[in-house]
Amino acid sequence: MVIKCKNAEETVEAGFKFGQSLKQGDIVCLTGDLGAGKTTFTKGIAKALNSIYEPVSPTFNIVNEYPGDIPVYHFDLYRLETENDLYSIDIDSYLYGNGICVIEWPEIALDLLEDYYAVRISYDGEGRIIETERI
Ligand SMILES: Nc1ncnc2c1ncn2[C@@H]1O[C@H](COP(=O)(O)OP(=O)(O)OP(=O)(O)O)[C@@H](O)[C@H]1O
Ligand SMILES: [Mg+2]
Repeated sequence: MVIKCKNAEETVEAGFKFGQSLKQGDIVCLTGDLGAGKTTFTKGIAKALNSIYEPVSPTFNIVNEYPGDIPVYHFDLYRLETENDLYSIDIDSYLYGNGICVIEWPEIALDLLEDYYAVRISYDGEGRIIETERI
């Protein structure tokens, strides 16, 4: 699916609609340049799952947890370098846990994943183009 978002509000709304289809155990990989809107899209996902928290960039803690109808585990793997770093945060306990994993900068984790949603955000002038695909 391809969605065009003119501003950040529309990206939150796109994340909200996408989030409504998510189920326990789902994994969402968000790719796109710095500032593309990955965290903005995640705000909509958390809202769809009735999280009481609004997502913020987890860059300094690697993973944030948002309790809701289904817990959302929001990762930013930007600062991790090797697959070993993933084991040090015990990534399996999240991937095979009872929530939904949303992963920004997922490249170093892709080999560990079987089925996931790939969400790619690119620039279109002021706006963004969001493509979602089931891998
Ligand atoms: N159409 C749009 N969709 C999303 N964000 C937009 C849009 N237009 C402007 N913005 C702005 O761009 C910024 C996107 O920031 P955000 O933190 O979501 O990006 P990110 O992809 O998570 O970046 P990072 O790689 O640093 O984690 C926000 O300041 C947001 O307000
Ligand atoms: Mg971000």
